[in-house]
Amino acid sequence: MAPGTRLVDLDDVPPDSTLLVTLRNAAGEEVEFVLVRVGGGEVAAWRNVCPHWTDVRFDTGDGATIRDDDLVCGKHGATFDRDSGYCDFGPPEGATLDEAAVAVADGAVHLVDGDYDFVRVGESEAHAGRDRSTNPGERLGF
Ligand code: FES
Repeated sequence: MAPGTRLVDLDDVPPDSTLLVTLRNAAGEEVEFVLVRVGGGEVAAWRNVCPHWTDVRFDTGDGATIRDDDLVCGKHGATFDRDSGYCDFGPPEGATLDEAAVAVADGAVHLVDGDYDFVRVGESEAHAGRDRSTNPGERLGF
C-alpha cells in the first residue's frame, strides 16, 4: 500500500516546470507548494514563496520556470537547486526553501508529511482569482 495521501499522478508533474498544490498546516492555514521532479524519479515539494520577497510566488498557477536543474524565481532570477532547494545565485543566495515531505509510489506522488494535509491541486484560497503576475506590488531596488 502506498504511503501517505495521494496528491497527483507522477505524470502530472511536468519534467520542465512545476505543479502547484495547496496544503493545510496545523494552524489551519492554506500553504502553497510546488511539486518539482528531482533525481532518481522522485519529486520534491518546495514552498511556493521566494525567500527574497515573500509575497513573490514561483508558480502562479501556470508552472514555474525550471532551467538547468534549478527552480528560477521570475522576479529577480534567483536560482534554487531543484533537489535541495538551496539558492546558489541571486539576492537570497544561501537560503533554502521550506519543504513538505512527499514520496513517489505506484506512479503517484503522496504527501508523507505529518505537518500538512492535502487541500487541492492549484492555488490557495488567498490567491484564487487574483492577479497572476509575479509582480504584486511596485518596489524600488532589490
Ligand atoms: S523576489 Fe525572488 S529573487 Fe527577488
